[in-house]
Amino acid sequence: MNTGENSLAARDIEHLVHPQTNLQRHLEEGPIIVDHATGVWVHDDEGNALLDSVSGLWCASLGFAPERLARAAYEQMQKMSYAHLFRHNSHEPAIELAEKLLSIAPPSMKKVHFQSTGSEANDVAIKLIWYYHNALGRPEKRKLIARHKAYHGSSVSAGSLTGKPDMHAQFNLPLDGFLHVECPDYYSNARDGESEEDYATRLADDLEAVIVEEGPDTVAGFFAEPVIGSSGVILPPKTYFAKVQAVLKKYDILFAADEVITGFGRTGKMWGCETFAIQPDLMSCAKALSAGALPISAVLIGDNIYQAMLSQSERMGNFAHGHTYGGHPACAAVALETLRIYEEMDLIAHIGRLNFPFSDMLNEISDHPLVGNVDLTGLLAGIELVKNKETGEAYPADMNLGAKVADASRSHGLLHRYAGNRIAFAPAYVISEDEIGEIGIRLRKSLDEVHAEFGDSQ
Ligand SMILES: Cc1ncc(COP(=O)(O)O)c(C=O)c1O
Repeated sequence: MNTGENSLAARDIEHLVHPQTNLQRHLEEGPIIVDHATGVWVHDDEGNALLDSVSGLWCASLGFAPERLARAAYEQMQKMSYAHLFRHNSHEPAIELAEKLLSIAPPSMKKVHFQSTGSEANDVAIKLIWYYHNALGRPEKRKLIARHKAYHGSSVSAGSLTGKPDMHAQFNLPLDGFLHVECPDYYSNARDGESEEDYATRLADDLEAVIVEEGPDTVAGFFAEPVIGSSGVILPPKTYFAKVQAVLKKYDILFAADEVITGFGRTGKMWGCETFAIQPDLMSCAKALSAGALPISAVLIGDNIYQAMLSQSERMGNFAHGHTYGGHPACAAVALETLRIYEEMDLIAHIGRLNFPFSDMLNEISDHPLVGNVDLTGLLAGIELVKNKETGEAYPADMNLGAKVADASRSHGLLHRYAGNRIAFAPAYVISEDEIGEIGIRLRKSLDEVHAEFGDSQ
């Protein structure tokens, strides 16, 4: 890396605070600077081409630099670079996008409200849950339940939903009234001999016990990613969501599905809710909504919530909420073009076809001594790295084997995510079969290297 006085690296170190980064280490080691990217390939400023198998941050679903999205943004910005939706104002891209989104959403979703990020979408979902219960005259129903290891964003409220201790420590989070129950991770957390169904029953019973202990009249909503994403792609055990939903219904608790990663085909159907038979009251989506090309997110709103919002409006007049950039016309135009491209490529059939080489590649890698378990749905996968493949014995959590594999992978020209002892993959939908094969080849080299260095600690 060039760290000369006026280099990009030196200027970065001097001026930038990076998210999700070890700030001390950054001062010593500096940034990894990306220069340009096309398809699934990212090119750094040292001339290395890196195969990105996780679409940036799970978002660049059409690969990098798709011409049509650039054109959609340019044309919209030439016509009208800004317009808002406050106080009855509207514009065509937002109207068309809302219409299009509802046409592909579960039929119970009736309205759309736009923001810019996934965190904001979840923040809005929280507010709408509170607004709903207040409309029904039960202001004490306000606690929210999410799961350990869940990721719902970094803002104060979405960070409170998030179930990661490092995102709470020293930030005075979570806020009061945000509770967390067990992460549904059958491979790592089930008891000896416990079936997936029994494990799911136990988790649903635990959830019910928490609700009863807190007082059902104080619990407003439950948030879940259909597949836990940022903690390394952990699929729910069989029957988990059916059992959880039965508990929530019993106590009149709303279900908010965080589809920020799982929306738009990622799990093999249009929505994670479809793949895992979830009937949500609200859905948050972002990322692949605009293929990551411009920031836009949406909350899809069920009719029960919308009717309550209307009744609030009768009482209070104004729906006193909104973001300057919510439904920004250029972002909406890019999202619309993204959805058109999905339609033209027959997205769900396309992902179904790619699932074969993707699962073949993961099957092959699953014989590696470090690979304990592979979670896979659609074009989304996570691998649990273990000390002992036969017994499933884990490495100590603080060993962060995933980071070690990710470092090795980078040196072999492969980018993927990591979290603790897990690594994760969510390639762009435009990846070729050869490129999927290339992920397997490069990953095996990294796993071999890490195993040679740390495998002896067995
Ligand atoms: C499931 C989920 N929800 C919410 C978010 C937050 O989105 P954003 O970073 O756009 O605020 C993320 C980000 O990765 C996510 O994975």
